[in-house]
Amino acid sequence: MKLKILVTAGDGIGPEVTNEAVAVLKEVAAIGGHTLEFDAKRIGGVAIVQDGTPLPADTLAAALDSDAVLLGAVGGNEFNSMSPDKRPEAGLLAIRAALGGFANLRPCFSFKELAVNSPLRPEIVEGTDIMFVRELLGGAYFGKPRECDMAKGVGYNTMVYTKDEVARVARIAFQIAQKRRKKLTSVDKANVLEVSQLWRAVVIEVSKEFPDVELEHQYIDAMAMHIMNRPRDFDVVVTENLFGDILTDESGVITGSLGMLPSATIGGKVNLYEPVHGSAPDIAGKGLANPLGAILTGALVLRHSGGLETEAAAIEASVRKVLEQGFRTPDLARSNPEGFPVLSTKDMGAKVRETVKALLVSA
Ligand code: NAD
Ligand code: IPM
Ligand code: MN
Repeated sequence: MKLKILVTAGDGIGPEVTNEAVAVLKEVAAIGGHTLEFDAKRIGGVAIVQDGTPLPADTLAAALDSDAVLLGAVGGNEFNSMSPDKRPEAGLLAIRAALGGFANLRPCFSFKELAVNSPLRPEIVEGTDIMFVRELLGGAYFGKPRECDMAKGVGYNTMVYTKDEVARVARIAFQIAQKRRKKLTSVDKANVLEVSQLWRAVVIEVSKEFPDVELEHQYIDAMAMHIMNRPRDFDVVVTENLFGDILTDESGVITGSLGMLPSATIGGKVNLYEPVHGSAPDIAGKGLANPLGAILTGALVLRHSGGLETEAAAIEASVRKVLEQGFRTPDLARSNPEGFPVLSTKDMGAKVRETVKALLVSA
């Protein structure tokens, strides 16, 4: 198997965690005799500084010419006063739009060993296994008109969806649910927003193609509470762009840290892979970042772009094993009564590599 992967590490902790993900992928490829070709390009703040734009043309061209794009994170405090269309984040939104993936899969699972790290009680989080399907190319992120007019003292965005945009992401969510526990929760705000009324009607229409999947609807406000109270009750959750952004950061509380969460964006020309977390300027450059979300994102590259299920599962099993053995990054050691060893970003990456090697070589 041969795969051309473009790495856009970006800003802050992006390069630190992405380095570890790439090193794990290289280890796994070498053992299995697979060829992974890596190229690296700039995106985000680093590209604004060096190229004058958050998404340089050669980054975009290389992305469109690759089999998969692995992104670290973008953004930094020094860009915070820029307008949304000039900021590092604009580069990320532009590459998402250009690659065309509209279904952003964000799995959330509990790790028994990390339950103590969650503010939620272990009996609430244990056994949680949710697949969030976040619509990624519509809603308020891309809707027009949009404006911030300081002189007039008015700012607005447009949360807009077409029937086709809702139907295509709903279909993916139903298909995923068919392969899991056959339950889909669609999240909207149909009690207030017209855009959500369309969303709900289209999801109901699409559900007729999937009679074996049980469909329920929740309002976003109640859902934010339900996933804290009873996360185990949810299987696949489909929702629009902004609601999905918020719910998935919240789901980091279930896992124990935002730094654990991976994502894969499918449905377009080239799949895009990015951990859920951001550039974390507060801890950047200190070796404090948790690379496991990025490493698990690497596993999703192998699963969704490489068809390497065994290798993807081996990476996931290795992450679990490293945690079972007690190794932690600082974000996973907030509550560390047993005095588990706290590792740097690099050392955590090395532990996963060592573990995945042992697992695959002995298999
Ligand atoms: P953030 O996700 O960067 O950080 C939130 C909190 O979680 C911080 O305390 C941070 O230290 C911690 N954290 C995040 N990832 C971690 C990891 N891997 N290990 C340990 N701790 C981790 O969100 P923010 O602070 O709101 O945003 C910072 C910048 O990142 C902003 O510019 C934002 O727009 C950007 N951002 C980018 C992406 C992306 O590129 N995909 C995603 C989210 C936010
Ligand atoms: C995410 C991030 C991005 C988003 C930002 C950085 C544009 O928060 O991937 O969750 O809002 O989609
Ligand atoms: Mn987010």
